[in-house]
Amino acid sequence: MTDALRVVDVVEEQLEAVWGVRQRSFGPGGDKDEWRKTALEFLRDGRYLGVVDGDQLVAAARIWPLEQWWGGRKLPMGGVAGVIVAPEYRGRGVGSLLMRGVLERCAEKGYPLSALYPATTVLYRHLGYEFGGAKYRFAFPAADLRVLGGKGVAVRKAGKEDAQLFLDLASKLHETQRTNGPLVWPLSEIEDWLGDEENFAYVAEDGFVVYNWTDGGLAVGELIAGSEQTARALWATVGSGASTARTVYAVVPPTDPIHLLAEHEAESDPSVIRWMLRLVDAPAAIAQRGFPASVVLDVAVRLEDADLPANAGDWRLSIADGAGTLTAAEPAEDALHLGARGLAALYAGTSMAALRAGGLATGGAAAADPALDTAFGGPASYMVDDF
Ligand SMILES: CC(C)(COP(=O)(O)OP(=O)(O)OC[C@H]1O[C@@H](n2cnc3c(N)ncnc32)[C@H](O)[C@@H]1OP(=O)(O)O)[C@@H](O)C(=O)NCCC(=O)NCCS
Repeated sequence: MTDALRVVDVVEEQLEAVWGVRQRSFGPGGDKDEWRKTALEFLRDGRYLGVVDGDQLVAAARIWPLEQWWGGRKLPMGGVAGVIVAPEYRGRGVGSLLMRGVLERCAEKGYPLSALYPATTVLYRHLGYEFGGAKYRFAFPAADLRVLGGKGVAVRKAGKEDAQLFLDLASKLHETQRTNGPLVWPLSEIEDWLGDEENFAYVAEDGFVVYNWTDGGLAVGELIAGSEQTARALWATVGSGASTARTVYAVVPPTDPIHLLAEHEAESDPSVIRWMLRLVDAPAAIAQRGFPASVVLDVAVRLEDADLPANAGDWRLSIADGAGTLTAAEPAEDALHLGARGLAALYAGTSMAALRAGGLATGGAAAADPALDTAFGGPASYMVDDF
C-alpha cells in the first residue's frame, strides 16, 4: 500500500467514480438517479466514506443510521453497505483500510453496534465482525394460510400515513417478546416502503403485514402480530390470494408462530442469509441492551480489540435487574478472554460451548458459562430486511 491511500468523506464530485466502481463490483444495472439521491443523503450526514489514491477515488462504503433490538431494547446500529474496492486495487489492504475508517466513523457517530451482510466473511472477521444472526425465508402453501381464520379481527388497508403506527406496533411487539436482531428504520424509509404501490400493507389493532408479488407467488416482507387472532387474520389475508398464488414466501424467524399455526410444515429448504455483528463501543452496547430479569452475573472479562482499542483491556461484566454494565477493572486471573469476534458472537446469543469450541473464548470460570448463556440467549436473533 502506498502512503497516498487515505480514507476520506466522499464528496458529490466523486459520486460518478463511486458509481463506476459499483458497476465493476456488483454488475451493471440499477437506477442511477435513485442511487445518487440516496447517496447524497449519506454523504451530507458523514455516512459515505471512501479511499483515495492521490485524488482518485478507489473504494467506498456507506453506513445506514439504523437501530437494532437486543433483549427487548433498541440501540443505535451502523449498518454497513455497498463496500466496494476498484478491481485494480483489490488484495492489498484497501478494503481493510476502508473498514477501519468505517468503524471509527461508527464510533464517532455514537453507534454502539455495527452490522452487515457479508459477501465474504474474511475481510470482516479480520475487523472483529462475527455471525450475529440470519434472515430466513420460508415457503408455505398459500392454501394453508387462507384457512387460518381470525375473521373477527378488523383489518384495514394501510398506507404511507401509517408509518409511525407501524413503527409503534413493531416496537411494542419486540419489547414484550424481548426480540433479538430486527432493525428499526428511519421513519422516511418506512414511508417510502408503505408508499410503494407494489407493496400491499394491512393493519389491525395489534399488528400489520406488508407483502408483494414475487416470482412464483406472494412474498411477505414483514408480519407483526400481538395476538393469535391477529396472526390468523393477517396470514389469512395474504393466503386469500391462493387462487392465483400457490406459494407464500415469508421472511420470518424459525421460531415464528406461523410454524405452529400452518397445517403443513414450510418447505424444508428455507433460504438463510447470515449477517455479522460488531461491538463498536462495548460498554455502551452492554448498557443499552436488555437482559432477562432473572439473570444475576458478575464476571471478569479481558477483551482484545486492536482496531477499536477503547474496548480492549480488563473489565467486569455485571448483570442484574434486566440491565448490564461493563466497567474497567483490575486484571483478574479467572477472566474470560474474548476478542472482538468472540464478544460479538456472545452478544448475539452464541453459546459459550460453541464459542470455546470455535476458539473464540478461553479462560474464565466454566461455572459462569450457563449464566452467560442465559444472559445473552433468548429468542434466536434474526432480521427481516437487508440493507
Ligand atoms: C470484498 C472487497 C471489498 C475486498 O477488498 P480488498 O481491498 O481486496 O480487501 P483486503 O485486501 O483489505 O483484504 C482483506 C482480507 O480479506 C480477504 N479477501 C478479500 N476478498 C476476498 C474474497 N473475495 N474472498 C475471500 N477473502 C477475501 C483478503 O485475502 C484479506 O485476508 P488476508 O489478509 O487473510 O489475506 C473487494 O474484493 C470488492 O470490492 N469486491 C466486490 C464487491 C464486494 O463483494 N463487496 C463486499 C460486499 S459485502
